[in-house]
Amino acid sequence: MSTATDIALDQAAALLQPARCAMAFTGAGISVESGIPHFRGEGGLWTKFDPYKVAHIDTFRKDPAQYWTYSLNHRRPDAQPNPAHRALVDLEQRGHLRAVVTQNTDGLHQKAGSGEVIELHGSSHAVVCLDCGAQFPRADIDRLNREHCPPSCPSCGGQFLKPTVVLFGEALPESALRQAQTLAMAADVVLIVGSSLQVYPAAGIPRLAQQHGAELCIINAEPTPFDDVATVVIHGKAGEVLPAIIRRIAQDR
Ligand code: APR
Ligand code: ZN
Repeated sequence: MSTATDIALDQAAALLQPARCAMAFTGAGISVESGIPHFRGEGGLWTKFDPYKVAHIDTFRKDPAQYWTYSLNHRRPDAQPNPAHRALVDLEQRGHLRAVVTQNTDGLHQKAGSGEVIELHGSSHAVVCLDCGAQFPRADIDRLNREHCPPSCPSCGGQFLKPTVVLFGEALPESALRQAQTLAMAADVVLIVGSSLQVYPAAGIPRLAQQHGAELCIINAEPTPFDDVATVVIHGKAGEVLPAIIRRIAQDR
């Protein structure tokens, strides 16, 4: 890595070392090295698909087949946590990180062992029937979807089986948003990893933290709208940068 990156890595470690209630705020970029595509920026899914067609509640209600066909071709249920997810667990176990607030629905933070994970955009690991309210494990409905797309509700035969994720046009889960806001107002550092910071209200969480005195450390492959107000910005791959920061913190022990 270049000296400029080395200096930024030292600065990130110096920011996190004394942190006692840091929070991580993650986006799709942290799961890219696990094989799950991100949405915006170079090669993002939204450069190939219209999000209104495959991820908006209005379209879903008109034609659930659009979502379930997209899911057939893009879902990565076997994805595993990568070194970036594991680095956040390490930070938590060293007492520097209080929680992970994520926009991701892939469950990889929990799979990696993070203790406190707040899912602002829900979880893709369950499915709810909008007709009868029954909930099912995603794997069961994926199996039905492979047999017949779109899948019908095993309980009532309804056509509107929806993953428990927040689609465009839907509100975020109230309790998750409140928890994230409470953490943000108490945070001393926000470690932002793999987010374009373009989607609200989620992107308002790091903003709220900063308004309450938190310093921002951004790790992202591309520039973000928050770069100029962050204390540390490292443009690179999360799976390489985060472990490099942990190595510096471990050396200082
Ligand atoms: N390491 C770090 N950053 C990466 C990597 C990587 N290996 N690969 C990609 N990135 C960056 C991209 O450059 C991009 O800026 O991650 C960022 C991901 O941004 P988005 O794709 O916009 O994802 P996110 O910010 O999580 O989107 C928020 O929008 O589509 C909705 O609900 C969806 O939760 C999502 C929300
Ligand atoms: Zn039903």
